Amino acid sequence: MLEYENEYDFENRMVTPEYVPEDSDTENPLRPKSLTEYIGQEKVKENLSVFIEAAKQRKESLDHVLLYGPPGLGKTTLAGIIANELHVNLRITSGPAIEKPGDLAALLTNLNPGDVLFIDEVHRLSRSVEEILYPAMEDFALDIITGKGQMAASYHLPLPPFTLVGATTRAGQLSAPLRDRFGVVLRLELYTPEELSSIVTRSARILGISIEPQGALEIASRSRGTPRIANRMLRRVRDFAQVVHNGVITLESARLALDRMEVDEIGLDANDRRMLSTMIQFYNGGPVGLETLAAAIGEEAVTLEDVYEPYLMQIGFLSRTPRGRCVTPAAYLHLGLTPPGSREEKAVEQQSLF
Ligand code: ADE
Repeated sequence: MLEYENEYDFENRMVTPEYVPEDSDTENPLRPKSLTEYIGQEKVKENLSVFIEAAKQRKESLDHVLLYGPPGLGKTTLAGIIANELHVNLRITSGPAIEKPGDLAALLTNLNPGDVLFIDEVHRLSRSVEEILYPAMEDFALDIITGKGQMAASYHLPLPPFTLVGATTRAGQLSAPLRDRFGVVLRLELYTPEELSSIVTRSARILGISIEPQGALEIASRSRGTPRIANRMLRRVRDFAQVVHNGVITLESARLALDRMEVDEIGLDANDRRMLSTMIQFYNGGPVGLETLAAAIGEEAVTLEDVYEPYLMQIGFLSRTPRGRCVTPAAYLHLGLTPPGSREEKAVEQQSLF
């Protein structure tokens, strides 16, 4: 049996929205290739289709696009669709992978006119790399300075027109000059259970898995608004359906599988429940500062912010206040606890007076 070093190992969470190698490679058959195949994010699709059509009509490169939102919602997929719809190549890289200005210069000079350069985690570009990017985005040119003092020389190299698609989970961390150079800024939202159910049904069809509508909705409801989680759950539930059931994903087999994986009926796993119960037990439900909470549960503050909080806030279990994070009464009830200040708690307090 596989043993994890740490029970709460973030990398091994069933519900981690972070990419794990099993999820995909660039040839993932589950990735939609066109905007019409892409389910959900209606506002984003509507606007994007207009911008793409306009750029094609003018035979120009599409303006630079910034995609932001929680992980696992399909930012890389959308970049691929943009390139496909424009009939150009897609180059994929990420902020941390571009270490030196020369790395970026090499990428940019190898683009064909109109190509899409996708930079994931664009907020993690270093200052020196960002500085190369500004003239590249604005004027399609590389401004390079070599040597020092009297030997210094500057070169102005024209580049082919291109579209930068930047993705980030944290738009607030982008430097203002970089943010301002994106002509199109699109925010991706968590998906509804109905949208996720359509995504799961589509994925099952592609992978040749038989699934009943109620089974798809069950997986969707426990996927915390995130297609990457839904598709991963689909594969694991298929394993259970195959070994324990007759191979068909029904409401019953989906429930059995997800219960066994300790993902509850609204998609919370042991980590989410631990975070909420730590806040309740040690901080009276909050307010508690992000860093304090992160230290208490042994996670990084950014992980709490990017991975745990968006969904807990979306379902109304957590609120952010200027003084810190607070657990809401709904979360107490979900954990089978009595919210503070509720009628039941007052009754218990009254009783203890006598
Ligand atoms: N797979 C992952 N995200 C998707 C989406 N938004 N639509 C269809 N399939 C997907």
